[in-house]
Amino acid sequence: RPMSRLVIISNRVSVPTSDVGGAQGGLSVALAAALRESTGIWFGWSGEETAHFSGHINFQRNFGVTTATIDLEAQDIDEYYNGYANRTLWPLFHYRVDLAEFERGFAGGYERVNARFADTVAPLIEAEDLVWVHDYHLIPLGQKLRERGCRNRIGFFLHIPWPPTPLLLSLPSHRELVQSVFAYDVVGFQTLDSLEAFRDYARVQLDAEFGEDGSVTHEGRTIRAIACPIGIDTAEFRASATSEVALGVFERMRLSANGRTMIIGVDRLDYSKGLEERFLGYERFLGSHPDQHGAVFLLQIAPPSRADVQSYQEIRAHLDALSGRINGEFADAEWVPIRYVNKGHRRDQLAGMYRAARIGLVTPLRDGMNLVAKEYVAAQDPADPGVLILSRFAGAAEQLVDALLINPHSPEDMADAIATALAMPLAERIARWRRLMDNIEAEDVIWWRRRFTEALEAARPHPLPPG
Ligand code: UDP
Ligand code: G6P
Repeated sequence: RPMSRLVIISNRVSVPTSDVGGAQGGLSVALAAALRESTGIWFGWSGEETAHFSGHINFQRNFGVTTATIDLEAQDIDEYYNGYANRTLWPLFHYRVDLAEFERGFAGGYERVNARFADTVAPLIEAEDLVWVHDYHLIPLGQKLRERGCRNRIGFFLHIPWPPTPLLLSLPSHRELVQSVFAYDVVGFQTLDSLEAFRDYARVQLDAEFGEDGSVTHEGRTIRAIACPIGIDTAEFRASATSEVALGVFERMRLSANGRTMIIGVDRLDYSKGLEERFLGYERFLGSHPDQHGAVFLLQIAPPSRADVQSYQEIRAHLDALSGRINGEFADAEWVPIRYVNKGHRRDQLAGMYRAARIGLVTPLRDGMNLVAKEYVAAQDPADPGVLILSRFAGAAEQLVDALLINPHSPEDMADAIATALAMPLAERIARWRRLMDNIEAEDVIWWRRRFTEALEAARPHPLPPG
């Protein structure tokens, strides 16, 4: 049986430039990998601004993936992307109610842009297509497509955490938002924790009914809600770690490390990533291990993200100050403890850096999954692998139980884990790495795509709307 065509819809579309280049961010990296395996199109925002929204679609075909992108007006970008998506939903869904802003204008822009997406993409959808909508920017898109007569099977996957009910209740339109989810056929979450939080809301707030196999029924609509953790393209990433580019970077890192042990962090510059806590934990380690001064250093790659949003400007300023303070406190003429880099890198370059690092330090306060943790593991030399230190609050911690799991709020916990990782004997490093790798190989991005699309294919076609 031929596979149905996939229509993937997300806010961010990365036009593949080569198989390891492309945009930053777990969503676009994963979708590019997932689409390479099947026929279909990837629809979304170009990232560009236009004076008047026209619905014009720019089609491109690169490396086997067809992308279809639209430009948005300045007001759309302001209210929908910078506003509702990144000042309201992102902080709230990452448990930062303190940073969430609830402005009516944002909610209006969110509805308007979701309607624009629906109007523009609907004519591209053919009868047998599977439609797969991604992430918090587009939660009501399924409902908008149904209102336009779309009867295809439509799935939704949330790349970020689903928040606990008491937090979600602080969103003024929480009920409408969650009810719109029932327009889909299959809804996927990264973790059991998120799935449970969604089911809790449905139980407590919507009085929903629950069936076998993850079905949830509300006002006559039944959806399947599943946990389906996203993976990386493990085979591809592993190969890229020994590519010419990666080995070149690896060699240069070794030279510049000058015999010192390297610890690496790679994150979009986002307050959810626990970067301040990471620097403070590392500072605590330096404070309690004077013998390690001059023997280790932390390379932190942190490309700026969503720079029009104030909370991102603030975290950037805090990290500038904090890295400067720690370096000033501990550095000497020959050694700087933190190399703090605000520049993005290609993933094959990152692969070489991961491989050169004895420790991968991944400390988000909340994260839907965290692909960097998986990439760090996949890039290691099997004969001399490094140690992954991973926050319990990353979605990846449900799978990567053989990492050193830590509480990023505790500087002592982090300092202890760094010391444990540095002292870990080779045999234990290899044993842990092998078990981590077994998971990353078994549950890779192809597995994820299959699991989700099989659930979607198994859904019954949507009935005709009443009337
Ligand atoms: N990334 C990249 N270049 C950089 C920094 C990050 O290509 O300079 C990639 C990284 O390799 C990973 C993705 O961006 O594939 C980040 O995904 P993750 O799930 O860790 O976090 P997100 O950014 O989605 O919150
Ligand atoms: C996270 C989100 C994605 C987003 C990415 C990069 O991975 O889940 O939806 O694309 O961050 O953020 P940006 O705002 O640059 O698209």
